[in-house]
Amino acid sequence: MDKLIIQGNTCLQGEIWASGSKNAALPILAAVLLCQGATTITNLPQLQDVTTSIELLGALGVEVSVNEHHRVEVDARRLSSLTAPYDLVRKMRASILVLGPMLSRWGEANVSFPGGCAIGSRPVDIHLQGLRAMGAKIVIEDGFIRATSSGRLVGCNISMHTVSVGATENLMMAAALAQGTTVLENAAREPEILDLANCLNGWGAQVTGAGTRRVIIEGVESMPGGFHRVMPDRIEIATYLAAAAATRGRVRVTGADPATLTAVLAKFGETGASIDFGEDWIELDTQGRRPLAVNLTTAPYPGFPTDMQAQLTAVNAIADGIGVVTETIFENRLMQVQELRRMGADIVVDGNSARVQGVARLQGAQVMASDLRASASLVIAGMVADGQTCVDEIFHIDRGYECIEEKLHQLGAQIKRIQN
Ligand code: EPZ
Repeated sequence: MDKLIIQGNTCLQGEIWASGSKNAALPILAAVLLCQGATTITNLPQLQDVTTSIELLGALGVEVSVNEHHRVEVDARRLSSLTAPYDLVRKMRASILVLGPMLSRWGEANVSFPGGCAIGSRPVDIHLQGLRAMGAKIVIEDGFIRATSSGRLVGCNISMHTVSVGATENLMMAAALAQGTTVLENAAREPEILDLANCLNGWGAQVTGAGTRRVIIEGVESMPGGFHRVMPDRIEIATYLAAAAATRGRVRVTGADPATLTAVLAKFGETGASIDFGEDWIELDTQGRRPLAVNLTTAPYPGFPTDMQAQLTAVNAIADGIGVVTETIFENRLMQVQELRRMGADIVVDGNSARVQGVARLQGAQVMASDLRASASLVIAGMVADGQTCVDEIFHIDRGYECIEEKLHQLGAQIKRIQN
């Protein structure tokens, strides 16, 4: 298992570029299954999850040519299999996103039942309820979700009991080729949903209302495919800004869309940092000051994103004052706390809230990554702490942060990867 060795007492200064969004790229790669013609996708981040998605498409018989960095040409005219295998779904839960498009285009889809993960049980009941409402027959057997439909899926009104990014994406894709109109009520409004809808419309679908609670999809007979450039990764961008806030630095991220980070930028403002931004860049400047502690509660977009909760917990760990962090989306997403405590953080967890009493200094330690965003919070803490920090199990980080060492080196961090 690779490790990251991080020297502390760093002050991040400088400019980096934003990569393409992991959480936009994964549904967009699944959407190629809807298209009769060729598709081209650019600004794909080079991440393990993107590689796994491309492997999954290959396992289905889709021709994917990765002819240069960040760009793929895809031909999904013919499939050799309608089964997403256990060994790939096990590696990446988001594989469930092939269920809707594969079923809608081919009338059949078998996807290994995605297990839970470190942050929670992560059920898929909303995905399955929606597909059944559109006429799919779904059975769970031998650890697989086996979905079939006799003829086209039929559009209908679907009200989702919980705001779910993945269910909104899966059902939007399934509805694209369904017969008639589908209305998704209580839809997720994340920017990645809007990016997927823009992509689907560019490839021949008719989706309106994406980014609002009510998405309407007029089913079409077929989708010719086309070109799409993936949006910037707002969570990656905000993670580097959080690192700047924690290390009393000044960081500008280019290729960013400030409009997708309103709640997060407001929270950074509460830490006392100054935030400046233009059309495609964002800059956080602490003016060398220790951050002020902040209170936050995660919520579906446009609220504060759960994917930034662990990183702000790390900022609170060395902030001036007491900050309370409350996680409302996932039932077990405070795992970074026990590792931050091993670095000297003063955090008390009560249910889904963490009460963080900022300390003046953290101590470097050997720590263990548990999930993607908790790993990022440990890297942030390691750059602030006295001494050296070794973050183990960093395959979690490689799932979501492209060229993390390169980008942090560019900002002055002393970080190196030990390959085991
Ligand atoms: C997406 O996961 C993201 N992943 C997650 O990012 C992100 O944390 C999450 O949305 C919330 O914003 C991708 O986009 C690939 P959900 P997803 O369905 O779709 C419950 C990261 O770090 N739920 O919006 O799996 C569920 O239990 C990852 O980049 C049901 O009850 O999340 C949770 O409490 C982590 N039934 C809530 O909804 C369902 O059928 C939100 O989950 C589906 C979900």
